[in-house]
Amino acid sequence: MGEQSAAAQTELVVLRWLKALFGLPPAWSGALTSGATMANLVGLIAARQWAGRRLGFDAAADGLAGHPPLIVVSSTEIHLSALKCLGTLGLGRNQVRQVAAPGGSVDIAAMAALLRGIDAPVILIGNAGEVNSGHFDDIAALADLRDAHPAGAWLHVDGAFGLFARLLPRLAHLTRGIERADSVAADAHKWLNVPYDSGFAFVRDAGILREAFLAGGAYVVGSAGWDPYTHVPEMSRRFRALAAWCTLKAFGREGYRAIVERCVDNATVFARWIEAQPGLDLMNSAPLNIVCFRIVRAGLDDASTDALNRAAVDAIQRDGRAFVTGTVLNGRAAIRAAFDNWLTTLDDVAILQAAVEDIATSSR
Ligand SMILES: Cc1ncc(COP(=O)(O)O)c(C=O)c1O
Repeated sequence: MGEQSAAAQTELVVLRWLKALFGLPPAWSGALTSGATMANLVGLIAARQWAGRRLGFDAAADGLAGHPPLIVVSSTEIHLSALKCLGTLGLGRNQVRQVAAPGGSVDIAAMAALLRGIDAPVILIGNAGEVNSGHFDDIAALADLRDAHPAGAWLHVDGAFGLFARLLPRLAHLTRGIERADSVAADAHKWLNVPYDSGFAFVRDAGILREAFLAGGAYVVGSAGWDPYTHVPEMSRRFRALAAWCTLKAFGREGYRAIVERCVDNATVFARWIEAQPGLDLMNSAPLNIVCFRIVRAGLDDASTDALNRAAVDAIQRDGRAFVTGTVLNGRAAIRAAFDNWLTTLDDVAILQAAVEDIATSSR
């Protein structure tokens, strides 16, 4: 590794370990980021560079003005962080062509039909672990669509926590095909269990990534090898790799598998409990760690049921025994329980159940 700093060397080791952990191609380039938003940004900057090149221009060097608009497609469930990135990149938050995702997974036939009507390179954003419901797009099918698109397509996958489904053999089917993506974003401060300000991005085409971030200046002393500043937007950054190196070393593959398994098992137990309760409706199939449900009352219309459930989220949060958030699923207000913390046990699930039961009863 020559003259590289300890931080750069550690980052390269962490990236190698992460690719091995998730079964991603070892040759992929990548970098640590401050979170999945910045990881999405890195992947989408590479995508923008690729799309510009397909159309005969250098987006990073020359900008987008005077060139055909770059086309982005995704599902209606695209994460708001990816939209923020598209705004930052000059691609436009409102310009994404969105395909329906009934139940949380993109409608592949509808996506294929949309792509058939586009005679240009496309940036295709898939979701692995959609934030409201935990559902997954069929990434292998998206990769097939990418391969079949005559003008070419770049497949970026937001796997902020969904990438970790690869650690459980029984869930590995959820991310099938992610190894065929062009770029993948994920969070480390979720299931990798490091403190906030940590994520990672992988990009298949190292040359495109470097080209997108190319910068030089008289005062920049080029290092002999890998330099993070040609892989991410920042120049100066903290030694983010250290925490990831320590936790990877401490937990190892088995440790992470156990964390994810415990969270997913907790979610499954809670979802089965919801299903068995009269007056509670399970709203998603809870494939990963997120359970969405709502309180229902005979004779109560949709708007009043929405109001009841929004109030229930507030009441559970105020109660303080457990923390849930509110969301909207298929147009209806939902109570959302996400099992993320490695310390959460079945005892905590029982506490959550008691809190939900009490609030549901008191709201009658
Ligand atoms: C699917 C998805 N993408 C991106 C993000 C953004 O991640 P961060 O907050 O680490 O920037 C999140 C955060 O919850 C997420 O769930």
